[in-house]
Amino acid sequence: MNKPLNNKNARPDPWAVYQDIIARDRHPTPPDLLEAGKDDLGLLSSGREMYTSPAFHRLELERLWSRVWQFACREEEIESPGDVAVYELGDWSFLIVRAEDNTIKAYYNSCTHRGTKLASSSTHLQKIRCPYHGFTWNLNGSINKVPSSWDFPQVSEETHRLQEVRVGTWGGFVFINLDPEAPSLEEYIENLPGQLAVVDFENLYVAGYYRKILQSNWKGSIEAFLEAFHVAETHPQTINFSDEQSTQYDILGRHTSRFLQPVGIASASLGEKLSEQQIFNSMFAEIMRQTTEAPSLPEGMTARQFMADTTRAQLTEAGRDVAGLSDAELVDAMQYTLFPNMVLFRSTGFPVVYRFRPNKHDPDSSIFDMLILKPVPAGQARPVPAEPVEMGDMRYADIPELSDWLGDIYDQDVANLKLLQEGLKAGNTPITLSQYQEIRVRHFHNTLRAYLEQA
Ligand code: FES
Ligand SMILES: [Fe+2]
Repeated sequence: MNKPLNNKNARPDPWAVYQDIIARDRHPTPPDLLEAGKDDLGLLSSGREMYTSPAFHRLELERLWSRVWQFACREEEIESPGDVAVYELGDWSFLIVRAEDNTIKAYYNSCTHRGTKLASSSTHLQKIRCPYHGFTWNLNGSINKVPSSWDFPQVSEETHRLQEVRVGTWGGFVFINLDPEAPSLEEYIENLPGQLAVVDFENLYVAGYYRKILQSNWKGSIEAFLEAFHVAETHPQTINFSDEQSTQYDILGRHTSRFLQPVGIASASLGEKLSEQQIFNSMFAEIMRQTTEAPSLPEGMTARQFMADTTRAQLTEAGRDVAGLSDAELVDAMQYTLFPNMVLFRSTGFPVVYRFRPNKHDPDSSIFDMLILKPVPAGQARPVPAEPVEMGDMRYADIPELSDWLGDIYDQDVANLKLLQEGLKAGNTPITLSQYQEIRVRHFHNTLRAYLEQA
């Protein structure tokens, strides 16, 4: 066996580090956060072609995207009968429709006459009508009108109703699946609803919706968010108060995984020990964007405790019931993935959901949707959901609904991705993944391979 480069700082039990931190928190931590997966998925490398090859990209569309449950829209986007959302995936396009009976239907966005696309963007319709020759369907997909029906003896309800795909809902999210044989959504999402129950996604509304075309393969894009290992190099402004090396990674099931990254703790990457006041000073300047000197921490209080108390007080004042939340749920980055492309947070400081998708048949670019979700104000009607903003060159730091420090972080992440995709094509060594900190990426690749190997 090759001699490891430098093992003198090895952490024999990386799972224990985060657990030690939350064991010192003062509010009770829920049992499911006190568990660590302790998985070891080995050290196998992956080839670069999975990010760059057009043939691999086509295989993914054929064998992966045609079989997985994927987040298509929020229920609130199609609140009333006749509301239609359009979800695009590769070359496919789907209409997600609120039918007359209030059920949600999903159809291929393609005319059963000669194939024309039926709607290009979200809309409201009484009937679904093809703009070419006027074939028309009811919201439940049944045929409403065939022009010159005398001339179509071969057309019937059975053969020419809109072609339907499966729909499932959880937490106000609408999912579709093209595969009639796939397991139910409930089975597919494993224990995600249990892990994320404290968030109450159902009662959040879309306060901001931002779409960016990234110059990287969809997997390179989502993988930039599955590990905290990159934080010290990519986001150095955060390591005085956030320890990427203490992040806990857990494989929860075939389609789900999480990381729990502590905030309010200085990074082991710093190579020096900071005082609690120094940690707090950095948080005060970076997260709170205060230019004045930070107040002194109360005697005996840690920066993490102070941040948890401050967050708890602020949320309580805003009318949120946070009595049952642990300090970790208030301050840490607790991030979950639903394979293949959805990322959600449990902790209150990250009110965002991500979705990554292939961009047509281009392996070198992807679509990144960021939804900013906020609680519906108490006693008020649900606000109208925000429509997607095509960001173009707009920076995340300029998104008004996002705190400045988070915006900067996304801009730094996105800046890596163009270099990643270009570099992947510029060389040919295999992709190397660390044993622990990049275990979610490895797990992601394992699940991906299993789908692709299924004929
Ligand atoms: S292609 Fe749609 S009505 Fe002819
Ligand atoms: Fe990042």
